[in-house]
Amino acid sequence: MKPASTADGIAILLFLFSVLGYIYFERPQVQDGEALNKTTATRNIAQRLEEGRHKCVIFWGSQSGTSERFAETLARECASMEVSTVRDSFAFWHQCFGGGFVRLRCRDLGQVSKSKFAMFILSTYGEGDPSDNTAGLWDWIERVKNDKLTLKELRYLAWGLGNSNYKYYNRIIDVVTDVLDAAGATPLIPKQKADDANSGTEEDFQSWKDDVFAMFRVMGFEERSFDYQLSIEVIFNAGPDDVKTVTQNISVHHQRSATCSEIVPLSIKSSRELFTTGDRNCIHLELDLSHRQVGYKTGDHIGIWPCNPEEEIDRLVDVLGLQSRRNHAFTIKMTCLHLAPFALTPEFKAFLLEISKSRNRYERLILSTHITLTLLPLSFVLESVPALQPRYYSISSSSVIAPRRIAITALVVNKTISGSLDTAIHGLTSNYILLAAKLPSNASVPTPSFQHTELVSLEGTKVFAHARKSKFKLPINSSTPLVLISAGTSFAPFRAFLVERAKLHAIGKSVGKTLFFFGCRSQDSDFIYKEEMKESLGQHLVAEHSANVLDMLDAGANMYICGRANMAREIDVKIEEAVKEAKGLKKVEPRAWTDALKKRGKWRADVWG
Ligand SMILES: Cc1cc2nc3c(=O)[nH]c(=O)nc-3n(C[C@H](O)[C@H](O)[C@H](O)COP(=O)(O)OP(=O)(O)OC[C@H]3O[C@@H](n4cnc5c(N)ncnc54)[C@H](O)[C@@H]3O)c2cc1C
Ligand SMILES: Cc1cc2nc3c(=O)[nH]c(=O)nc-3n(C[C@H](O)[C@H](O)[C@H](O)COP(=O)(O)O)c2cc1C
Repeated sequence: MKPASTADGIAILLFLFSVLGYIYFERPQVQDGEALNKTTATRNIAQRLEEGRHKCVIFWGSQSGTSERFAETLARECASMEVSTVRDSFAFWHQCFGGGFVRLRCRDLGQVSKSKFAMFILSTYGEGDPSDNTAGLWDWIERVKNDKLTLKELRYLAWGLGNSNYKYYNRIIDVVTDVLDAAGATPLIPKQKADDANSGTEEDFQSWKDDVFAMFRVMGFEERSFDYQLSIEVIFNAGPDDVKTVTQNISVHHQRSATCSEIVPLSIKSSRELFTTGDRNCIHLELDLSHRQVGYKTGDHIGIWPCNPEEEIDRLVDVLGLQSRRNHAFTIKMTCLHLAPFALTPEFKAFLLEISKSRNRYERLILSTHITLTLLPLSFVLESVPALQPRYYSISSSSVIAPRRIAITALVVNKTISGSLDTAIHGLTSNYILLAAKLPSNASVPTPSFQHTELVSLEGTKVFAHARKSKFKLPINSSTPLVLISAGTSFAPFRAFLVERAKLHAIGKSVGKTLFFFGCRSQDSDFIYKEEMKESLGQHLVAEHSANVLDMLDAGANMYICGRANMAREIDVKIEEAVKEAKGLKKVEPRAWTDALKKRGKWRADVWG
C-alpha cells in the first residue's frame, strides 16, 4: 500500500546506537510540523483530512509514553485495512496537543465531515489531571463546554488509559467524551478504558482494538494480509557519534513548556546511602544548578533521563548483527510492519496471526517465555521499541534553603525473576542513579553498567534532567498547621517541607504545628533522614504521632499525602470514617467534607505507583 503523500505517509526515523545508547525516532507529527512550517500548510484538521483524503485523525495525550505507543501501533495496524470507498490508503496521522509540535487547531474538529472520524487515546495523570501535552485539547474542551458549542457532525472513538488504584480513575477520557456527547458528537462505539492496576493495559488495548476493527469491517473497510516490505533506506553516519549528539536528540523528545524546563546536564555534587542495613539502596543525590537557567520551587519534581545499560545495547546490537556500527547514528524511512512474515514455519505464522486477533491467545502468549523468529529487520525493531522516557522524582530539597541545588531521594528497584533468584530485572533509572552516585550496591544481584555517566565524568559526573512544576506546594502563610502523611521514599518532598519550615522558625518566623506520619518497613534500617530530622526540626516534627488529624484540619491545617495511590485512597476512606463518627454526619457528607478541603487547596496529594 502506498502512502497517500510523502509528508503523511513517510516519517524519517533516526536511530542512534550512540555511545550513550539512546534510541530516538522522530515522531510523525514533528515531520508534519516541519512540513507545515515550511509550506505554511493549513492547521485546520478538517481541511487536512480532506486534502490528504484521510479517514481519521488520532489524538494521543500521554505523560509517560504509553498512549503514544498505542497510538503508533493502532495507526500502523490500521494501514492493513483498505478503504473501499476511497482510492488512497487508509491513512492516519497523529497530532500532539502542543508542546511545540504541530499545533493543529482543535477548534476545527467541529468542521470534520461525517465521512471522517477522530480517535482519542488519552491517559489520566496527577490527581485526575490531563497529561502535559493535552493542554491544548483540554482548553478547547473547556470552551466547548462553557460556550455550549455544537459538534453534530463529529464522529469519534475513545480509549482512556488509567489505573483504578487512583481516586480519579480515567477521569480525562470521561470528561472529554461527556463534553463531546453533550455537544452532539457521535461515538462510533462506546468508549473503553484501560486499567493498569494489574498491568492490564496491553490486554485492554487488544480488546478495544478488536472492537474497533470489527466496526471498521461493518463500515466496509477490507482487511488484507500485509507482508512486510523491506523498502527502507539506511544511511549510516560516517563515524561514531559524540556526546553532544545525544543532548540534541533527547531534547527533541521533550519540549520546554509552562510546566517543564528544558533538559540540561547537571553535575552531581554529593551522594549518600540512606539505608543503614539490608540489601536495598536508597540514595540521596544532590545536583548542582549553579550555572543553569533551570530553577525549581519546593515540592516540584525532577525528570531524570536514563540511558540503556551496556549489556542491553550489546545484546540488541548482536541480535541485529550490527556490531561494527554500534556507535553510529543513521536515518531510515518508516514502513508498515507485522511480525508474521518473520515466522520460521507456516504453523507459527498462523499462530502469530491468530494471537493478533484473539485477546485470550495473546494473554497466553505473554505468559510464555519467548518466541523464535528469523533475523528481525532493524526497521521492525525501531518501530517496536518505544523511546526512552524520563522517570520523575519528588525534589527533596527546599528552594528557599538551596535554590541552586536539587536533591532527590531514590530507591533502587530490582525485581528477581521467579525460579531464578540470582537474576534480576533492574529498574533502569534507579540503577542508573546508583551508578552515577558512585555508591556500592547492597543488592545480591550484579548491577548493570552504563557508559553515559562514565563518558562525561571528565567534567564531573552529570545526569540529564529537567524540572517539572507540581501543585504540591506549601501554604504561603507559614503559620498554617500541616498534616503530612508518607511512606518509604515518598518522604522526599516532606524533607523539603520540613527543613524549610525549620529554617523559617530559626529566623524568627511564625511556623504552624506539623503532624507528620511516616511509614517504613523497619525503624532501624529504613527510617530515612531520621538523624537529620531530629537535628533540624526539634519541636516541629512529631514523627509517627497519632494526634487528632480532624482537630487540626478543623483548625485550618493543610493536609499533604505523598505515596502510593492505594495509600492515598485508604487515607481518604479513614478520614471520611473519622469525620462521620466525630461529627455524626449522614453517609454522603464526609465525602463532601473532604472534597471541599481539596477544592480549597487544603488537601493535596502527590501520588505515584
Ligand atoms: C511524580 C513522581 C514522583 C516520584 N518520586 C519518587 C521519589 O521521590 N523517589 C523514588 O524512589 N521514586 C519516585 N518515583 C518513582 C520513579 O519515577 C521511578 O518509577 C522508579 O525510580 C523506578 O524507575 P526505574 O527506571 O528504576 O524502573 P523501571 O525500569 O521503570 O522499572 C520499574 C519496575 O518494573 C520492573 N521491570 C522493568 N522491566 C520489566 C520487565 N520487562 N518485566 C518485568 N518487570 C520489569 C523493574 O524491576 C522495576 O521494579 C516517582 C514517580 C512519579 C511519577
Ligand atoms: C503519577 C501518576 C499519576 C496518575 N494518576 C492517575 C489518575 O489520577 N487516574 C487514573 O486513572 N490513572 C492515573 N495514573 C495511571 C496512568 O494513567 C496509567 O499508568 C497510564 O497507562 C499512563 O499512560 P501514559 O504513559 O500515556 O501517560 C497515574 C500514573 C502516575 C504515574
